[in-house]
Amino acid sequence: MSKNFDVVVIGGGPGGYIAAIRAAQLGFNTACIDEWKNEKGGPAPGGTCTNVGCIPSKALLQSSEHYEHASHSFADHGIEVKGLGLNLEKMLGRKNTVVKQNNDGILYLFKKNKVTFFHGRGSFVKGDANGYEIKVAGATEESITAKQVIVATGSNARALPGAAFDEELILSNTGALAITEVPKKLGVIGAGVIGLEMGSVWRRLGAEVTVLEALPTFLGAVDEQIAKEAQKLLAKQGLVVNLGVKIGDIKAGKKDVSVDYTDDKGNAQKAVFDKLIVSIGRTPNTTGLNAEAVGLKLDERGFIAVDGDCKTNLPNVWAVGDVVRGPMLAHKAEEEGVAVAERIAGQHGHVNFNTIPWVIYTSPEIAWVGKTEQQLKADGVAYKAGTFPFLANGRARALGDTSGMVKFLADATTDEILGVHIVGPMASELISEAVVAMEFRASAEDIARICHAHPSLSEATKEAALAVDKRALNF
Ligand code: FAD
Ligand code: NAI
Repeated sequence: MSKNFDVVVIGGGPGGYIAAIRAAQLGFNTACIDEWKNEKGGPAPGGTCTNVGCIPSKALLQSSEHYEHASHSFADHGIEVKGLGLNLEKMLGRKNTVVKQNNDGILYLFKKNKVTFFHGRGSFVKGDANGYEIKVAGATEESITAKQVIVATGSNARALPGAAFDEELILSNTGALAITEVPKKLGVIGAGVIGLEMGSVWRRLGAEVTVLEALPTFLGAVDEQIAKEAQKLLAKQGLVVNLGVKIGDIKAGKKDVSVDYTDDKGNAQKAVFDKLIVSIGRTPNTTGLNAEAVGLKLDERGFIAVDGDCKTNLPNVWAVGDVVRGPMLAHKAEEEGVAVAERIAGQHGHVNFNTIPWVIYTSPEIAWVGKTEQQLKADGVAYKAGTFPFLANGRARALGDTSGMVKFLADATTDEILGVHIVGPMASELISEAVVAMEFRASAEDIARICHAHPSLSEATKEAALAVDKRALNF
């Protein structure tokens, strides 16, 4: 096996493994190094996303939603369920199987694309514009060389000071996805994406969930109207979210965790939980990379410093995904990975940061792309807005899920779509149409004039586009 590669990718998450595949497709002799281990100590490529992020969380969101439907909404459809039970061990087992299918899928893709995979930790030894020496420390230790290096080492959960993750009582995303008994009282610190998704999973399975959020506004980055609607819908389901809190001491006892905090009125509070999820954001992971050996520059927040093309301060060293600036999203990491491989090949790889979609997989889902109404106001952009509620959509009525709306924001003069915001059923799928439209710089009228299948949720998208011109047909 050759130990000298054209391209070596350090990290096999969505940023890294996709970069490696694209580089191999472009004809480079490529290697990918990833250290993640499965429970048997074997390779588990796919990173945070596959092992303790996107994939397992969506598996549990799906299972818990089925359970909630069976216990609450089947009756409306005339389906009577007797003796409904929860087999959490099986649910977690299914989630683990889904994860393994994805790990194995990536190993298969490496073989198919002739990417050499190394299981272990990759670290810089030395190097310059002529090439880099990388040490791989796994079951054995070896040294490989690379003309080009792509760093895609991802991120880790951020802990609160004085409350290290033990994954038994104080849980990061890793522990939150592997609780073996539904807690009676579950505390969540941080009402961000993970807090709301994991809070939803465990609430649906029977936990009493309290989310404690430092900011006074709910989902501050989301369009205000959509965030307000989502807040109302989640509260109705029983998810308690306390905003504007200041977290004090957190103490893990033998069987529970106590959290001292000050509420939004300044009153001292104490809450005791069976488990506590801390989801207050993530920090870039450069541990073990030995960045100092080659002088790889980090920024003041610990991210690898890159320019708009993902170039680091070192010649022929690139970095992508969660370990660099920008949203911590799997699809953003993938797009950067592809773009870098293409730039190495002399092509014009490109990532459009204005059209990266966001999805929060609560029920209903929250999805958006482009500018929010508050951003447009702050930027002084003249805009028109159009909204359409799922309540007036035939397919949503048939589904039995009429919560939420689609909202379009378009330029007041040109009608170009500037943002699309959805809270409602299958928002994660519906948002793709808006992304395509914005990528092609479509106007709201373009969407309004396109024939959408009936009955479908996508008709709500068309109607919201019509509403921009105040001519919705069904509302
Ligand atoms: P990672 O996926 O973190 O992969 C980095 C890999 O590099 C890891 O395997 C790590 O072990 C390896 N590594 C690190 N250092 C070394 C080294 N020195 N040598 C060898 N290997 C190394 N995003 C979405 O878009 N949609 C979602 O639904 C979603 N859900 C999420 C749910 C949760 C609970 C969490 C925590 C995150 C979620 N994310 C989601 C975010 C998403 O997981 C990340 O944005 C994405 O994984 C980043 O990809 P990456 O390749 O940059 O890094
Ligand atoms: P987040 O940034 O989404 O939310 C963190 C929340 O914690 C914020 O609301 C913040 O105000 C709050 N917070 C911070 N410090 C606090 C403190 N001391 N006390 C109380 N609240 C505090 O981060 P999260 O949820 O940890 O997720 C990390 C990242 O993972 C996300 O930003 C996202 O990029 C990614 N992710 C994406 C998903 C998706 O695309 N569906 C799902 C899950 C994660």
